[in-house]
Amino acid sequence: MIKINFVCLGNICRSPLAEAIFNHKVKEKGLEGFLKGESSGTADYHIGEDPDSRSIAVAVRHQVEIAHKGRQFHFKDGKNYEYILAMDAANHRDIIHVLGYKHEGLYLMRDFDDEAKGSDVPDPYYGGSDGFENVYQMLDRAIENFISFLIKKHELVA
Ligand code: 4NP
Repeated sequence: MIKINFVCLGNICRSPLAEAIFNHKVKEKGLEGFLKGESSGTADYHIGEDPDSRSIAVAVRHQVEIAHKGRQFHFKDGKNYEYILAMDAANHRDIIHVLGYKHEGLYLMRDFDDEAKGSDVPDPYYGGSDGFENVYQMLDRAIENFISFLIKKHELVA
């Protein structure tokens, strides 16, 4: 199983949504025997918590199942995941700090978004609900391309 850890700050808004969208698409494509998405946060503020109600609402609106309990990104995750996808540049920097080495599978989520390669998935926590729809749309685009990248790289056949 190729495991992917989607990482944001609080692990209640962006990364649980990324995990949910990824696993939804993986299932649609019949690749659930090969790929598994999980998520974590660089901060310890929301350990054990459900996703933010606004992330749940946007997932439900798009008929994507979402269920997660907040957990903090840990040094051991470097060994446990083939890919680590940081939502923004600060998360990316904090991941490198926690690991203390350059993980081969570390990327920014929007390295895979053709509309703005390498930019941040903006933190929607302090904004309104349209921020969550905006995050959903960029995750949807980037994750579609990320899965294509994984299929090609690992020669996955459904
Ligand atoms: P996330 O959003 O990193 O996308 O989960 C945040 C959630 C909570 C906080 C910051 C960002 N917070 O400061 O509590």
